[in-house]
Amino acid sequence: MMTKTTTLLLSLIVLLPSAFFRQYGTPSTSSPEYTSDGQLKLPEHYRQWVYLTTGFDMSYNPALTNTDHHMFDNVFVNPEAYKAFVETGTWPDKTIMVLEARLAEGKGSINQKGNYQGTKVMGLEVHIKDAARFPGKWAFFGFDEGKTTKMIPTDMACYSCHSEHAAVDTTFVQFYPTLLPIARSKGTLSASYLKETGTAQK
Ligand code: HEC
Repeated sequence: MMTKTTTLLLSLIVLLPSAFFRQYGTPSTSSPEYTSDGQLKLPEHYRQWVYLTTGFDMSYNPALTNTDHHMFDNVFVNPEAYKAFVETGTWPDKTIMVLEARLAEGKGSINQKGNYQGTKVMGLEVHIKDAARFPGKWAFFGFDEGKTTKMIPTDMACYSCHSEHAAVDTTFVQFYPTLLPIARSKGTLSASYLKETGTAQK
């Protein structure tokens, strides 16, 4: 016969992990979630995903000489997609990539020189591969304050720059140091990237 204490202990063992995962998410599983009107829900646990790179003051516009402030951008990808990329050199369906922008700060604590990242997220953009949902397979989203956001229309520059210049499947793998050698060895680099850099795929 179960005593009250045993029942309580047993229910704690069963309930605690589920409460934990509700709050912190299961880092090992992730797929895009949408609202009924087709908006993307913020992938809140992206900071527990796989880290790809940090860009510092990257700019696509040579005329834009940034003077008064500097920016970092950090790129993350969901673990399932990362694993598939390591095996195949390209992205599976349901890949979610997040680019997070933060201000560079200079003076604080013992730091005298160089920059570190500020605590406030200045921008959060998402690139998702979901073939059943998006005609071009991939779609872009940008989050401001809210937790849901509409897809960025396909005539925006996000789509053309990524499709014309990105090294693998419209993503900027040429700037992700652990992934570029994999794409090179698997032969998945895009023709436009190879042409741009003047290298031939072996
Ligand atoms: C002129 C080219 C250009 C345009 C326009 C552009 N991007 Fe990008 N994007 C880049 C580059 C370069 C990177 C790599 C950043 C790094 O290495 O830190 C990148 C990376 C990303 C990533 C990380 C995943 C990936 O696909 O590699 C996301 C998400 C992203 N951009 C979203 C957007 C969104 C949203 C827009 C439009 C509002 C946009 N980008 C417009 C060049 C561009």
